[in-house]
Amino acid sequence: MRIGVLTAGGDCPGLNAAIRAVARSAIQQGDEAVGIRRGYRGLAEDDYLALDMQTVHGILPLGGTILSTSSFEPIRENAVDTVARAFERNALDAVVAIGGEHTMEITRQLHADHGLPLVGVPKTIDNDVGGTDFTFGFDTAVQIVTDAIDRLHTTAQSHDRIMVVEVMGRSTGWIAAYAGLAGGADGIVIPETTTTVEEVAAGVTSRHDRGKDFSIIVVAEGAKLASAGGEGRLIQPIKDTDEYGYPRLGGIGAALAAELEDQTGFETRVTVLGHVQRGGTPTSTDRILATRFGAYAYELAKRGEFGSMAALHGTEMVGIPLAEAVEVKEVDLEILEIASRFFT
Ligand code: F6P
Repeated sequence: MRIGVLTAGGDCPGLNAAIRAVARSAIQQGDEAVGIRRGYRGLAEDDYLALDMQTVHGILPLGGTILSTSSFEPIRENAVDTVARAFERNALDAVVAIGGEHTMEITRQLHADHGLPLVGVPKTIDNDVGGTDFTFGFDTAVQIVTDAIDRLHTTAQSHDRIMVVEVMGRSTGWIAAYAGLAGGADGIVIPETTTTVEEVAAGVTSRHDRGKDFSIIVVAEGAKLASAGGEGRLIQPIKDTDEYGYPRLGGIGAALAAELEDQTGFETRVTVLGHVQRGGTPTSTDRILATRFGAYAYELAKRGEFGSMAALHGTEMVGIPLAEAVEVKEVDLEILEIASRFFT
């Protein structure tokens, strides 16, 4: 079997571990693995990288992706025929597509409507792909944000300040909720539920009333935050959209900080962690998860279970239909409820 592997959408720590796992599993079974560069664009443009023992040597701890990535969409770009013919041109029997929920939807359509032999692997720091308990990249991002919160704690305390930490999470607040819980945040604002500035301010004030002169508030970039006195008006500064029409978020932390300072009278500063959360070496948890995902995706391809995605259910790897993966998975609000017991 000749098996291709591609990485699409935003990068995250663990991609190289997953690529290595597909390649090493194939080589061990006497199959051949080939890397497809820059997501589905590489299939359209015949842009490949041989994945032999030498190419995948030493990449386990590396962040980013040795294959590069793009959000190229064959259907939108009228490139389905070119992509379909790439399987014949390059004698590919299967392709493992590693991506987020949007890549899983493209992969589902290419399989369901055009019969391409595709298998999915879920990745994203956002942990919002449906049908799997966790995606790789998430644990590393949570660790990076937790470290940042720990650092901000000492400086916030020294200056009696409110520190607002803006983290990634376009449509879900997994990073904010988990890192907020791990870092002992005093307020967490996420997209799954509407929070008012007054609620956050009340928590801060109540802390001050019992002698805690500083507070750390974590806000996801796509949070549903209602402005103070704004009759429920949501604050969501969308800067612009990317080439595929997705909103480029960022700025909600500054907006929240300004309103919190107004409401409470306490000096408030903002830290935007941005792409730092996506870069660098994966945690051991993400290396293990990515390796298991890659190895299992190879098995799915070998068994001809196309149109499926490797998923983590509890501690077990399973194959699920791609259709289940494209539903955005929201934060379990129980996590937020537990975190909120420490807010005041
Ligand atoms: O989906 C992962 C993610 O990091 C989101 O949390 C964030 O909104 C988005 O990617 C940013 O994407 P880009 O790097 O393309 O601006």
